Amino acid sequence: MRTVIFVLVLLTLASCGGDAAAPAAPATPMATAGDAAAGQALFAQTALAGKAGCVTCHSLTPGRALVGPSLAGVASRAGSSVRGQSAEQYLRQSIVDTDAFLAKGCLASDPEASCAPHVMPKDWEEKLSAQQINDLVAYLLTLE
Ligand code: HEC
Repeated sequence: MRTVIFVLVLLTLASCGGDAAAPAAPATPMATAGDAAAGQALFAQTALAGKAGCVTCHSLTPGRALVGPSLAGVASRAGSSVRGQSAEQYLRQSIVDTDAFLAKGCLASDPEASCAPHVMPKDWEEKLSAQQINDLVAYLLTLE
């Protein structure tokens, strides 16, 4: 009997969760469209769309800057980088509009700057498909 009640409670909870999540889906269609595994494969390519790939400029080792900052833990700091932007919005903007916000440690005024500002390619949006950008964002969101 206990088990039956438990299952019923679970089912009720599950259906509530489904209903609650449903209205939010159309508002953020891009957020759910990415495939993190595909994004990881794109990220790892040393050449991407005829240019240096992400991995040539970004290490995943904490504190190890290459040309760009290490992306270790980027998902955890992305949501607090720009006021009002979610982690997903910040990461998407970092790829398609790279100069909108310079990552910490890349400001020329910072004496400890460890990365070069304004060198990340600015045309990923033209060179990659919308799906590829969604995949990259989904992957970056896993780097907590
Ligand atoms: C030629 C080197 C270069 C390449 C290639 C490159 N980046 Fe960058 N990236 C940078 C630099 C430099 C910065 C820091 C300056 C800035 O914020 O624009 C940066 C910043 C970022 C940030 C923000 C990091 C933070 O801590 O806020 C993300 C996310 C990012 N890049 C992702 C990518 C992805 C994904 C790719 C591949 C599609 C890529 N980058 C390719 C150089 C590069």
